Amino acid sequence: MRRKLVVGNWKMNGSLVFNAALLAGIKDRVDSRQCDAAVCVPAPYLAQCQTQLSDSGIFWGAQDLSAYDAGAHTGDVSAAMLVDFSCKYVIVGHSERRALHSESNELIAMKVVRALASGLTPIICVGETLEQYDAGLTKVVVGKQIDDVLAMISVEDIEKIVIAYEPVWAIGTGRNATPQIAQDVHSSLRAKLALKNPIAAVGARILYGGSMKPDNAKELLSMADVDGGLIGGAALKAADFLAIVHAAG
Ligand code: 13P
Repeated sequence: MRRKLVVGNWKMNGSLVFNAALLAGIKDRVDSRQCDAAVCVPAPYLAQCQTQLSDSGIFWGAQDLSAYDAGAHTGDVSAAMLVDFSCKYVIVGHSERRALHSESNELIAMKVVRALASGLTPIICVGETLEQYDAGLTKVVVGKQIDDVLAMISVEDIEKIVIAYEPVWAIGTGRNATPQIAQDVHSSLRAKLALKNPIAAVGARILYGGSMKPDNAKELLSMADVDGGLIGGAALKAADFLAIVHAAG
């Protein structure tokens, strides 16, 4: 039985004051026996999470990392730095980074390798655009996105990754994939993992992201291969994030 995982992706939102209230609002209200919960925050706020969440059942992490170890990479943040702040998770290959920073499948695979080497759990995002969805290319696109990562990691490492299926047309649009669409794509992703490591594929968590809200979370999370959520907008309101966590648990 896979434990559900609900992750808030704060994106480029927050301030010390705003975060303090949000973290205080969720901190003691997550029952870590029911499901796992985490927040992935802008790098400058990792110290704040470390201070405010270290005695809670909520994990924290980052939204990106460098593909390189250290050195002349101005503006980048290394895996070791994230480990310094006790991060557990790091989002890799979010569609906003693929689109706005031209991140390729190859670069994303390098980042996944770097995260795993440092003991971080990468949350690897895949997802198709509306044009690709309309053209019936969803499984081809997400299949290639995941295959390019799997080609760069060991078979054993498959049990250390989390995947997030985030259809680009559902992100921030209020239009979520139906539970059946999510289930269909998730099971195809699990089948990809199973080709490499059938045992790890059974245990791997595949999250859904894209306008997951309190009113649709339960239905999405009830699907057999939907093992949690990667939450954008709704993660910025304590009550909404908690409602989704409770729907998972
Ligand atoms: P929304 O929940 O705001 O649609 O964002 C989803 C997302 O991109 C999470 O990574």
